[in-house]
Amino acid sequence: MQAAKKAVALAAVEHVKPGTILGVGTGSTVNEFIDALAARNIDLAGAVASSEATAERLKAHGYDMLDLNSCGSLELYIDGADEANPELQLIKGGGAALTREKIIAAASQQFICIADDSKLVNVLGEFPLPIEVIPMARSYVAREIVKLGADPEYREGKRTDNGNEIIDCHGFTIDDPLTLESTINDITGVVTNGLFAARPANLLLLSDEKGSVRTVTAASNQ
Ligand code: 5RP
Repeated sequence: MQAAKKAVALAAVEHVKPGTILGVGTGSTVNEFIDALAARNIDLAGAVASSEATAERLKAHGYDMLDLNSCGSLELYIDGADEANPELQLIKGGGAALTREKIIAAASQQFICIADDSKLVNVLGEFPLPIEVIPMARSYVAREIVKLGADPEYREGKRTDNGNEIIDCHGFTIDDPLTLESTINDITGVVTNGLFAARPANLLLLSDEKGSVRTVTAASNQ
């Protein structure tokens, strides 16, 4: 698994233009990417990080952190995923950074997703769908999720970087990711959910355990 992460991280570095401002996601694959970026001495005008953990890692390598509000639109965002379907719609949020990730993805012209090939599925939903909720709304949101047919589980003890809580939803079979994304986001108290369907990835770099990397584009673009 680690070899696959390293290989896809290295492949992603090839897409980074030196001197630009880069959006950087969160997770173990992205950590490999950050280390590969630094090892290759890729100079950036700065980075916008999707989590405190990513910001700390980038800073440790000497990269400057920027506030998205002062950057305008970003050329490129690189991030991992928990699941991806052939349309490059994703489930994210395993690392609880989904809201900042979704904001940076929305504000970026290109979103390259990096993952090992176990993450590619035909139908999203085997990975429990994370939802970031305002703490006082947690039980209410959970009851609404039950009405939608899934089984909500409180990620006990976890606070997001925004001070909120996470509910992981088991049992959704997500054959219409766009509709489910907006239905869940319409529940009062939801900050956002981990479906990236309205803003999918533009490219998916997938690696196998042997380190061979392939580039996947959305099935409907082929
Ligand atoms: C964090 C995320 C990550 O991108 C996702 O969990 C994948 O992480 P990893 O690269 O460790 O498998 O969405 O909120």
